Amino acid sequence: MSKVEIFIADDSHFEFAEEICEVIDESARVRGTGIAKRTPEYIKTKMQNRNAVIAVQGNRFAGFCYIEVWGHDKFVAHSGLIVHPDFRNMGLAKQIKEFTFNYSLKKYPTSKIFGITTGLAVMKINSELGYKPVTFSELTDDPNFWGGCKTCPNYAILTAKEHKMCLCTGMLYDPAKQVKKKQKWFDEKVLKRLKKIKQSMLLANKQLALWIKLS
Ligand SMILES: CC(C)(COP(=O)(O)OP(=O)(O)OC[C@H]1O[C@@H](n2cnc3c(N)ncnc32)[C@H](O)[C@@H]1OP(=O)(O)O)[C@@H](O)C(=O)NCCC(=O)NCCS
Repeated sequence: MSKVEIFIADDSHFEFAEEICEVIDESARVRGTGIAKRTPEYIKTKMQNRNAVIAVQGNRFAGFCYIEVWGHDKFVAHSGLIVHPDFRNMGLAKQIKEFTFNYSLKKYPTSKIFGITTGLAVMKINSELGYKPVTFSELTDDPNFWGGCKTCPNYAILTAKEHKMCLCTGMLYDPAKQVKKKQKWFDEKVLKRLKKIKQSMLLANKQLALWIKLS
């Protein structure tokens, strides 16, 4: 079997755009969690602008992640991380994230890097790269970024909470603070507990949001 290789995506990878969206949608459905929907056209634009990273094995798509720029380069977000089910639990997400992180630091050296996620795997990977969990107030206030959450089923919660919190945890890497890379500050149990607390706290709000939506 040929090895999995990671590249900065370009238009030669357009053929994978459709499959990337399908795997993102299907994974969100299986997990039963919220996710911002992406179209193949959007993915292709990211590839064309050299703001996407792709992992392939021969001509098979294995994984993907893209970079978004917000607030006039003040922030960049690494979004849409996906590993094809056939390639999971082999450390590929970690490699893609690290590749994207290093590339992003070169391309946007002064930008703060952030992400929002409900996924423990992503929290772990980000933590190892030096991200810290933060409140949403520390992230970009660019309405276009938060507009991306409109297709997430939890959007009503975000709105009810006036964009201050939601089921996702915000994580930030500030290059100006020269956070030591690979510093493993986190404890998996703590991250799991944090996620549980947020979910139970926000369950009531979810019901409220549903009520608002229906009324
Ligand atoms: C989440 C996802 C990207 C992980 O990909 P992967 O290649 O299997 O992850 P890796 O093998 O690189 O694992 C990285 C770390 O996360 C852990 N991990 C992987 N999947 C996990 C899961 N479902 N739950 C908890 N931890 C997980 C691994 O054990 C590893 O931890 P370690 O460094 O302590 O060993 C992949 O399962 C996926 O595409 N899921 C659907 C989309 C998704 O959830 N994307 C995240 C959007 S927020």
